[in-house]
Amino acid sequence: MAAPSLPFLLASSLLVLLLATLSNAKHFHPRALVLPVSKDASTLQYLTRINQRTPLVSISTVVDLGGQSLWVDCDQGYNSSTYRPARCHSSQCSLAKSTGCSQCYSAPKPGCHNNTCGVIIDNTIAHTATTGDLGSDKVSIQSTDGSTPGQVVTVSHFLFACAPTSLLEGLASGSKGMAGLGRTNISLPSQFASDFHFNKTFAICLSSSTSSNGVLFFGSGPYKFLQNTDASTNLIYTKLYINPVSTASAYTSGDASTEYFIKVNSINVSNEAVPIKKSLLSINRNGYGGTKISTVNPYTVMETSIYKAVTEAFVKASEARNITRVGAVSPFGVCFSTQNVGSTRVGPAVPWIDLILESQSVFWRIFGANSMVQVSNDVLCLGFLDGGSKPRTSIVIGGYQLEDNLLQFDLANSRLGFSSSLLFRQTTCANFNFTSSA
Ligand SMILES: *[C@@H]1O[C@H](CO)[C@@H](O)[C@H](O)[C@H]1NC(C)=O
Ligand SMILES: *[C@@H]1O[C@H](CO)[C@@H](O)[C@H](O)[C@H]1NC(C)=O
Ligand SMILES: *[C@@H]1O[C@H](CO)[C@@H](O)[C@H](O)[C@H]1NC(C)=O
Ligand SMILES: *[C@@H]1O[C@H](CO)[C@@H](O)[C@H](O)[C@H]1NC(C)=O
Ligand SMILES: *[C@@H]1O[C@H](CO)[C@@H](O)[C@H](O)[C@H]1NC(C)=O
Ligand SMILES: *[C@@H]1O[C@H](CO)[C@@H](O)[C@H](O)[C@H]1NC(C)=O
Ligand SMILES: *[C@@H]1O[C@H](CO)[C@@H](O)[C@H](O)[C@H]1NC(C)=O
Repeated sequence: MAAPSLPFLLASSLLVLLLATLSNAKHFHPRALVLPVSKDASTLQYLTRINQRTPLVSISTVVDLGGQSLWVDCDQGYNSSTYRPARCHSSQCSLAKSTGCSQCYSAPKPGCHNNTCGVIIDNTIAHTATTGDLGSDKVSIQSTDGSTPGQVVTVSHFLFACAPTSLLEGLASGSKGMAGLGRTNISLPSQFASDFHFNKTFAICLSSSTSSNGVLFFGSGPYKFLQNTDASTNLIYTKLYINPVSTASAYTSGDASTEYFIKVNSINVSNEAVPIKKSLLSINRNGYGGTKISTVNPYTVMETSIYKAVTEAFVKASEARNITRVGAVSPFGVCFSTQNVGSTRVGPAVPWIDLILESQSVFWRIFGANSMVQVSNDVLCLGFLDGGSKPRTSIVIGGYQLEDNLLQFDLANSRLGFSSSLLFRQTTCANFNFTSSA
């Protein structure tokens, strides 16, 4: 039998090589994706940059943990050859639970097409909503092995909502929209999980610094922080609850909230139970009450009676440590002199606050780094705000209380894993190594 010729061998091995390269690019399955999250010093909003469109543009968006979708300003400067409006009655429209079809009477452009379905778009900072076209465009994002960012991956038809420029009101300067991570099928975690076939799980780790980035992971851990701490280990888990009544600025009757609720059963300050009216801690039939987690509230907000009970207990426990109360500094109601306040690895040495969950052994302990805000050289304020007597949600756990804690939202199992302060483990949310290895 004649041996195959050299050119044939070369050609076939080249072909194999070529096929391998192609299939590698095509079938590269990231295990997780990663985005940096910065903190805006003037608004205290948390921002992330999304690479969208053709040619690619990096747009700054406000991270909205309970938000329904990615929405961006399409009126100004939206220029992309890969934008596609979502056709009425398409599967994209049903995935987005579209509320209707729109007509547009000016020249066609992103955000203005006929036969396109519309969705409600919510600016959860200004509490304003409008409807806008649903569309899709290319989105690129870095994959990760959990340690550093790796190969960039692309979604060709990432669904988002087109907003008018006026909806940007109240967002940090330069922001062009909001990145919704909420409980919908078109939120960022849901789309990435379905596009790349990984678990419907994401994690957020907000930096307390306005000069170094925190991180958002889509997919399961590891989530590694220098020096080699995997924050996906040793998490404490609590059940996630659904509020059956939407908490959005505008919604269709019958819609559930897309925000993440947990069940705080009681609160302790330094091992003493705080008296709280229990009914406020449950979500009632009209969707009032309960506890949610929010990245659009800079500080935790509590219904008046809860706020009073917690702050009274905190003042009492602080006095027992000879910490002196001083005049309030807006927006805070309770402030102290820094005199007699020691310092610890987890911030100022003040009484700790426990949000007690499923049982006495499952609690979220808030230490000084997450409770005290330094407002001047010699004054520290308790970073909790009075939410009034009839708020929609009794306790809204805000950004300051989340910083340097890793929170993992495991949606398939409807549970939240939280790390408690990473400062205990001698790392911070700003310690993800963003130097790409790709
Ligand atoms: C959009 O991009 C095209 C091609 O790059 C360019 O010719 C056009 O001027 C751009 N339009 C706007 C409004 O930026
Ligand atoms: C939508 O259709 C109407 C007529 O039915 C037309 O006047 C209008 O220009 C169209 N709009 C776009 C954006 O194509
Ligand atoms: C999301 O999609 C799944 C299946 O595709 C469906 O069961 C679920 O009801 C949808 N969720 C929402 C909030 O629409
Ligand atoms: C995905 O979720 C399933 C079910 O919860 C779990 O068994 C599996 O380990 C998860 N995969 C990864 C990569 O974590
Ligand atoms: C909360 O306080 C109660 C009453 O003082 C105590 O029995 C309980 O152990 C405390 N729980 C925690 C988690 O500290
Ligand atoms: C508080 O101050 C008093 C009087 O100065 C002192 O006796 C007490 O030991 C101090 N307590 C603490 C906890 O430092
Ligand atoms: C961060 O990652 C880069 C690229 O993977 C690596 O070269 C570098 O050593 C890492 N930095 C640290 C401090 O581990």
